[in-house]
Amino acid sequence: GRLAAIRAPLLAWYGRQKRDLPWRRTADPYAIWLSEVMLQQTQVSTVIPYWERFLARFPSVQALAAAPLEDVLAAWKGLGYYSRARNLHRAAQEVTAQFGGRFPSTAKALLTLPGFGRYTAGAVASIAFGEEAPLVDGNVARVLSRLFVVEGLPGDRAREARLWALAGALVKGERPGDFNQALMEHGATVCRPERPLCLLCPVREACLAYQTGRTSELPPAKVR
Ligand code: ADE
Repeated sequence: GRLAAIRAPLLAWYGRQKRDLPWRRTADPYAIWLSEVMLQQTQVSTVIPYWERFLARFPSVQALAAAPLEDVLAAWKGLGYYSRARNLHRAAQEVTAQFGGRFPSTAKALLTLPGFGRYTAGAVASIAFGEEAPLVDGNVARVLSRLFVVEGLPGDRAREARLWALAGALVKGERPGDFNQALMEHGATVCRPERPLCLLCPVREACLAYQTGRTSELPPAKVR
């Protein structure tokens, strides 16, 4: 079916083309969580040295929980959006106090922690724990809105619901963490906002926007 015609080629493409990023070499849920929080508002090239320094300074969730908040904020200095660092610190304290220092392993349980939204919960559950949990970020929203011609403006409730439902259907199967990262990687490098590289796209045969010549219209730009 359609889902298999997207899943398999995207996973194979990711196997060939994925960037060698440092958080792709670890299985530590804490280190993966940290990367996803940093990547939410900051680009990859900036995140890499911060991620490495932060982990050297606070090597475990227990170390982070035990550190004074001002030390955590100092390690965050320059990344901006400091509420991310405050929530990281609070969540580390909850993981230590309420879960014995072991991360909860499902998206549902992760959502109870400070700073965890649907995106972060899905990312950590799928990448660190192999749960078939979906995620939708800006890149994934663009890829899916083209593959399935999802109409509607960014922020539209019905559109968001449809995107999460599609992401949830697609992630079911083997290697859910790799699959989610493949969707994000594809959006970042091939299915770009402007001039997408459709001739290099592993799923263009399955892409309704490509088949109907609508890639440049999807997703529509935010009205402002
Ligand atoms: N953007 C945020 N997290 C990512 C990941 N794990 N892979 C690719 N792009 C991302």
